[in-house]
Parts: sequence; C-alpha cells; structure tokens
Amino acid sequence: MGEPSAEVPEQVDAGDGIIATRGLTKRFRGGQLAVDGLDLTVPAGSVFGFLGPNGSGKTTTIRMLMGLIEPSSGTARVLGRPMPRSVRTVLPRVGALIEGPALYGFLSGRDNLLRYDSADPTADPRTRRARVAAALDRVGLTAASGKKAKAYSLGMKQRLGLASALLQPRELLVLDEPTNGLDPQGMREIRSLIRELASDGTTVFLSSHLLDEIEQVCTHAAVMAQGRLITQGSVTELAAGTRGRLFVTTPDVGDAARVLKELGLADVVVAEERVTAEPPDRELAEVNEALVTAGVRVRGFGVERASLEDAFVALTGEGFDVAG
Ligand SMILES: Nc1ncnc2c1ncn2[C@@H]1O[C@H](COP(=O)(O)OP(=O)(O)OP(=O)(O)O)[C@@H](O)[C@H]1O
Ligand SMILES: [Mg+2]
Repeated sequence: MGEPSAEVPEQVDAGDGIIATRGLTKRFRGGQLAVDGLDLTVPAGSVFGFLGPNGSGKTTTIRMLMGLIEPSSGTARVLGRPMPRSVRTVLPRVGALIEGPALYGFLSGRDNLLRYDSADPTADPRTRRARVAAALDRVGLTAASGKKAKAYSLGMKQRLGLASALLQPRELLVLDEPTNGLDPQGMREIRSLIRELASDGTTVFLSSHLLDEIEQVCTHAAVMAQGRLITQGSVTELAAGTRGRLFVTTPDVGDAARVLKELGLADVVVAEERVTAEPPDRELAEVNEALVTAGVRVRGFGVERASLEDAFVALTGEGFDVAG
C-alpha cells in the first residue's frame, strides 16, 4: 500500500486516497455554483457514502470525477491520477453508474450488456457471454434479461446500469444513487451486493440522499449541502461526534421527567411511556437508582447511540430538505 508511486506508476498512493479533490469547484454557465471548493478524500478499501439532499452537487461532483465535465477550478485525482487528463488510463479501472444510465431501448437487457462489453477493448470476446450472464445474475436480472430495455421498470433499468459497472472486476466503483427506483427488497439486495464487492477489496463510492442507507452500508461518509462539504470521516466518528440520548421506558413518565430534571439533566423530553434527555456527566447507575428510589417503574434504561441523522441535524441545525 505505501509503495512510492514513482516506481510503480500503476499503484495508488493510498495515503492520498483513491479519490482526492482539492478546491474542486463547478460553476455552470448560467452562474449556478453547483460544487464549491470541495476537498474530498476517499480512503482505499472504504465504502464511502456521498450524502446530500437533492441539488446539493453530488452528481455534478461525480461527473467531474469521471471526466465527463471539466471543473471550473480546483483539482480531482482518481486512483492517484489527475482527472480529466487521465480519463483513458483511469476509466478502464473504474466501474461507474451515473444518473440515468444510457440504454438502447430496442435491445434486450442482455444485448445491451453484450454491446457495452464489446465496446471495451480490454474485454475478451470469448468470455463475453459468460461475463454478461454473471453480471445479470449478480443484479437479479437473469429472468428479465430477454426483455427489451424500453419495457424495463425504473428499478430494472437501474439494475441493468449496475450490471454494466460489474462486468469486470474493478478497483473502484462509483455509483450515483444505486438504489434509486428500487423497491425495499431490491434495495436490500443492492446493499448486500455492495458489501460483498467491498469485502472483495473494491473501494465503493456511492451517492445517496438516504441517511439510513449510508449508515447501513458505508464505512465512511461525506455530507454535502448546497455544493459545500459539511463534514467527512468514518461513519462511527461522525456519529460519535454527536452525543446520544439517555432514555427511560416507564409508565410513570411524569415522575421520571421530574427526577431527571432534579438531577440536573438537560433537554428532558416526555413521550408516551418514554422520557429522554441529554446523557448526564454523572454515573448512569446513580440516575437509575434515583428513579427507582422515587418509585418510578423503570422498564428500560440506557443511552442510545447517536445516528448519522442526529449528527447531520447537529451539524446543520436543520432537517434534510432541499435548498432553493
Ligand atoms: N447542466 C447544468 N446546468 C446548470 N445547472 C446545473 C446543471 N446540472 C446541475 N445543475 C445545478 O447544480 C446543482 C447541483 O445539481 P446536482 O445534479 O449535482 O445535484 P445532486 O446532489 O446530484 O441532486 P439529486 O439528489 O437530485 O440527484 C443544482 O442546483 C442543479 O440545478
Ligand atoms: Mg444526482
């Protein structure tokens, strides 16, 4: 991993990140600042969630990373190489699924993949059919593979796009909203596929506007809002930066809330059969003891881990809505 890249040009300097951007900025012709000074570092071997609400600049960033559009300023390196200058050497090593995969509607799903595969000069034609069959199988499209792509549902098209990114083993997969349009079962399948690919050593960079999706599959995440990076890091670190909540499950919510306030706990919130508050600095056992002594029937007690959503709300002081 830490080999000097000068001696082995194909090798990635992992310290630098599989993807690294510095001040990456895109201002569209109409003046829209879609991506604003982005410094992103994606560690090798991570499943990296690129999180942000609609219009926050995720797809624009991905298009710059893949060399589809030029940045207005700043730099992007993918697999250690500058983009878009190194598209021809970098792209064959990257599997990508970008918003609205290009498909030939008059061809079947299978024929779309055969055609896609034959456009890859490094792909051996003798093993083409087997490669396509394996990719169809991985995304659960085998049964529908003879159907014309124009008759595919959104979720089926998304699966076909994903299959095209999986034809070859890649060092990096870049997936723009890979579960978009899928039903819950399909989402679960794609998530487990992503975990499987990651365990084979592939770095996966995926965008999503679904917090719990990122929490379920990603080791690392970056949060975008209005073209700017709000934070990035490991998912555990991000959530750990936010304190969890103390909770008491009890039928005696009124008494429980009073005791917690008397103990000096902040932000006591009462719900049905449940009281929560900011975790105390004192021993948890003391809090429990005070509750029991006061005659509160404690059925559940503890500190809940903060979720990524809590972290996001804490960081932005707002919910997860689309900015104008
Ligand atoms: N070709 C373009 N010309 C002008 N503005 C654009 C263009 N493409 C995107 N934008 C604007 O840039 C901003 C970021 O768009 P982008 O598609 O990158 O967001 P996103 O995070 O991918 O959103 P979503 O979750 O909806 O896919 C938006 O305000 C969008 O309107
Ligand atoms: Mg997008």
